[in-house]
Amino acid sequence: MNKDNKYYTNQNREAWNEAMPKHQAASKEELDQLFSTPGYICQKDKNLLQVLERIDVQGKDVIHLCCNNGVELLSIKNMGANRCVGIDICDEAIEEAQERAKKFNIDCEFIRSDVYDISEELYNSFDIVHITAGCIGWIPDPGGFFKIISDLLRVNGIVLIHEIHPFSEMLPFDDNNIEDRLKIIEPYFRDEPIVENCSLDYVGGTDYAAKTHYWFVHTVSTLIMALVNNDLRIEYFSEYAKDISAGHKKQEELNAQIPLSYILIGKK
Ligand SMILES: C[S@@+](CC[C@H](N)C(=O)[O-])C[C@H]1O[C@@H](n2cnc3c(N)ncnc32)[C@H](O)[C@@H]1O
Repeated sequence: MNKDNKYYTNQNREAWNEAMPKHQAASKEELDQLFSTPGYICQKDKNLLQVLERIDVQGKDVIHLCCNNGVELLSIKNMGANRCVGIDICDEAIEEAQERAKKFNIDCEFIRSDVYDISEELYNSFDIVHITAGCIGWIPDPGGFFKIISDLLRVNGIVLIHEIHPFSEMLPFDDNNIEDRLKIIEPYFRDEPIVENCSLDYVGGTDYAAKTHYWFVHTVSTLIMALVNNDLRIEYFSEYAKDISAGHKKQEELNAQIPLSYILIGKK
């Protein structure tokens, strides 16, 4: 079968609908407890917090793509943002986000949608498009994705990305038995997605044979060119030896000083 973007994103939607109840069993109660404190902010990463402070989200209109259960967006609203919209393809994740926003009276809209199908009514409506850990790997076509990001932004709006560094995808994951954690075991350049059935329950840690899902490793140059080709000027780029994937803690602990995450800001 000739697989197009839709094929991949539909398969990934099913895999995420299967995974979310497992995440919820492990975390829903605790998250409700945390958000019951007015103004709760879940972001703990110092690098991201510094950047969020510097760009100042107060009064800004923000859209978070691949927002999962919305906790990061609820927190951005709690930091003082104006309109907040979260988009995710997963039915179960969006339901949880909507439920929590309502329960704690945090004014965020959550929309279940493939990022490739975002309504044009939302174009030219945002000061910030936000993307966080584990979004870009689900995206089959970065060029098309950043075109939509650019369309969502007003002129002078920014895309703020805090993501897993593609370099780290060459190294063994924490659950791999390979002794040398710094051994390069995967290629950096790939034409095809990685086809996986591994557990997506990085929250509760249950092991199960997941529905087939597709993960794309996009190189730094692919990402930079996807921004540049869509009228997004790179304003800030910083790399960190900090794992935000929950899969490369061992390399972080080794203090190997290899790039595990990055923050990038592009301005329209
Ligand atoms: C690893 S989670 C994001 C986690 C988030 N940064 C957090 O820490 O909660 C990836 C999310 O991307 C969503 N996703 C994957 N492909 C998508 C697509 N094509 N459109 C919208 N959301 C998508 C999945 O449903 C999932 O909720």
